[in-house]
Amino acid sequence: MYSSIIRPLFFNFDPEKIHYFVFDCLKFMGKIPVIKKIAYNSFGVIDKNLKQKVFGLEFDSPVGLAAGFDKNGILIDELASLGFSFIEIGTVTPKAQVGNPKKRLFRLPKDQALINRMGFNNMGVEKVVENLKKRNSKVIVGGNIGKNTHTAPEQYTKDYLTCFNALHPHVDYFVLNISCPNVGSHAKLTDKDYLLELITTIQKSNRSFETQKPILIKIAPDLNPHQLDEIIELVAQTKLDGVVACNTSISRSNLKTDKKTLDEIGNGGLSGKPVSDKSTEVIRYLHTHSKGAFPIIGVGGIHSAKDAQDKIDAGASLVQLYTGFVYQGPQLIRDIHKTIKI
Ligand code: FNR
Repeated sequence: MYSSIIRPLFFNFDPEKIHYFVFDCLKFMGKIPVIKKIAYNSFGVIDKNLKQKVFGLEFDSPVGLAAGFDKNGILIDELASLGFSFIEIGTVTPKAQVGNPKKRLFRLPKDQALINRMGFNNMGVEKVVENLKKRNSKVIVGGNIGKNTHTAPEQYTKDYLTCFNALHPHVDYFVLNISCPNVGSHAKLTDKDYLLELITTIQKSNRSFETQKPILIKIAPDLNPHQLDEIIELVAQTKLDGVVACNTSISRSNLKTDKKTLDEIGNGGLSGKPVSDKSTEVIRYLHTHSKGAFPIIGVGGIHSAKDAQDKIDAGASLVQLYTGFVYQGPQLIRDIHKTIKI
């Protein structure tokens, strides 16, 4: 029904407007307990063999929702009832920000892809904490954190730390987003020495809490082998809990969408089917070259159960969906649950 009726209808409208419309619909449906139950029975986890412990947390299944969909943590209960076993909120920044000027989200239907330059639009960490306090579901929540767009480089660490400390009691794991292509220059976030300083500062703060939360970093799919080796070294040096691979890509190669349309769209991060293989190869590289030393959350272009299995086979312990969820709907979660082997 999603592919034959809902998607063709939705795709007639502006993608960002539809995103908020879907939000409102899910919020409304979530208020009706019987609908929530039907949704979970239709899409949720059915196989106890899919349970596993990763970076100290018990996951009911390996399928989660990627960051950027529920940036403000307002739809956790509803998304959990669609069958996601974990939901990554954010990217959250210390102060609320509106993000880049609209229009900033584009569909590439011929490629089953999206290009976005949202620019970390979010309500700011204090409001997000308020939102998280309202959730009832026990689903695992990841807090993906970043810096405000106009923060000066000397203050980057302070931004991450503000979000980390405020969210610490309310999320189960953290992701330091160091790979967003849409928030101005982020050269410093690719510098290994700076990353070392950032990670160790966050880890120090983590130790000051009664319970420590796992901390991961999220990387771009456009890194070369040398940069991936640096990530492996960084994780080994800091004993980080894992890596989320990958964020959106700045590449525009091998697309079916014509050049004129791409030029009109302009800058932004590419997601969906065209990034699938690239992301899987990054996962394989990290897993092989680190000899499986740390868990990887595989994300990028999962549009089918096979795409998810490819990422698990390449070395991911968990997977996340975003663009595939937009193109295939919640049935994709059930399809993956039905066949995936971990
Ligand atoms: C994203 N993504 C993202 N990632 C992140 O770490 N912080 C964010 O705020 C966002 N925002 C965001 C907005 C939109 C509209 C999209 C499409 C994507 C990236 C996302 O989490 C994921 O890493 C990539 O989209 C690749 O996965 P898919 O979409 O190909 O499954």
